[in-house]
Amino acid sequence: MSGSTSQLQVDGKTVDMAIKTGSIGPSVIDIAKLYAQTGMFTYDPGFTSTASCESQITYIDGDEGILLYRGYPIEQLAEHGDFLETCYLLLEGELPTAAQKADFDYRVTRHTMVHEQMARFFQGFRRDAHPMAVMVGSIGAMSAFYHDSTDISDPHQRMVASMRMIAKMPTLAAMAFKYTIGQPFVYPLNSLDYTSNFLRMCFAVPAEEYKVNPVLSRALDRIFILHADHEQNASTSTVRLAGSSGANPFACIAAGAACLWGPAHGGANEAALKMLEEIGSVENIPKYIAKAKDKNDPFRLMGFGHRVYKNYDPRAKIMQKTTHEVLNELGIKDDPLLDVAIELERIALSDSYFIEKKLYPNIDFYSGITLKAMGFPTSMFTALFALARTVGWIAQWKEMIEDPSQRIGRPRQLYTGAPQREYTPIGRR
Ligand code: SDX
Repeated sequence: MSGSTSQLQVDGKTVDMAIKTGSIGPSVIDIAKLYAQTGMFTYDPGFTSTASCESQITYIDGDEGILLYRGYPIEQLAEHGDFLETCYLLLEGELPTAAQKADFDYRVTRHTMVHEQMARFFQGFRRDAHPMAVMVGSIGAMSAFYHDSTDISDPHQRMVASMRMIAKMPTLAAMAFKYTIGQPFVYPLNSLDYTSNFLRMCFAVPAEEYKVNPVLSRALDRIFILHADHEQNASTSTVRLAGSSGANPFACIAAGAACLWGPAHGGANEAALKMLEEIGSVENIPKYIAKAKDKNDPFRLMGFGHRVYKNYDPRAKIMQKTTHEVLNELGIKDDPLLDVAIELERIALSDSYFIEKKLYPNIDFYSGITLKAMGFPTSMFTALFALARTVGWIAQWKEMIEDPSQRIGRPRQLYTGAPQREYTPIGRR
């Protein structure tokens, strides 16, 4: 997309830089030639003002609280579609026809089993390993089992690797869960839809029939839609950077999962629930609000704040509605954690500190309550986030690989270390 130019005066020189304008959202100043023209780098740790790429997948308006997947509002996709429809949309750029959807569902369903030797791979982990440690290891290990889909220059192999990861992530996540609770792995069942299959692989036991609760399956499917993609967040940027070196797709997605695990990112849903449990009751909220505002206290309200959203995270609103749906379906009338969450949100949103800093609940604030009510242990929350975000990582990786202008990502630095100096022999130190 073209635009006008901007000028930079530096050391008496005037440097012209093109302004590129997208279809919606902020324009960008193309600084690619800045170093060649000025001998200087830009400086933006945390990339608060830096666009790393051009993309057509997801658009976020942080001030208005808008999230679009390929132009479609998240509210409409969550309301009317299912997760595999969102996967098709993110990968292909358009909503599928009925025939395309049926074919996509069929192909994903028939890739849900993992190589039987992967079960043995799991045996190497301690039973008390965190499911995300198991997920990062087993996703990476996929490149040791599926050599026939690691050549990134082959569009067919890219497609096969993509389908394999979308299809097998629920199986790996369920295996990680079962392994840590000492129960046998449950094979996927092709007669079930994607999310019902996942619930059954998590909660079925050989000793009895397992009946999927359709309300819970629909709720979890919607939660997956909410988590599917989110522009150039930390884990997606990790996947793009890993992919820019030509690393195989399984290794790139494993890198994304490792980054997602951090409590400031996808690990926040686990941290948010632990925070609600630590607060324990509505009476304790003021003490924790004060801690969150205290500059000398590292405590933060987990599930609050966002780099981009300076308004309510649109996903959090849908998440809150889903929480009530699930608790009602399960007959959970008064969940003390929900009471704490609702009161904490009410107090925080009326407190000048949070208002001035534009700190609102994000997607992680309510998800933990919902997932816990469904029977997932806190340690599984980020694994569920990784399951859903896999399609976003893959769509962004695919877009980068297919971009003719893509090059290996290699940022520079502002060096403030020791200037060159001579080696001192140890006897003279
Ligand atoms: C996800 O990027 C994405 O899109 C991520 C994600 C996705 O879908 O991929 O949306 C998923 O990761 C959601 C975010 C989950 N993380 C948390 O809930 C952890 C708690 N939130 C924060 O750590 C923080 O808000 C971040 C990490 C989310 C954003 O950090 P920023 O943009 O670097 O903001 P900041 O840390 O500079 O905070 C700005 C100010 C600071 O105060 P000052 O130094 O300006 O005085 O707000 C304060 C912070 O101290 N602040 C908080 C706070 N978050 C920020 N104070 C109390 N509690 C908080 N949660």
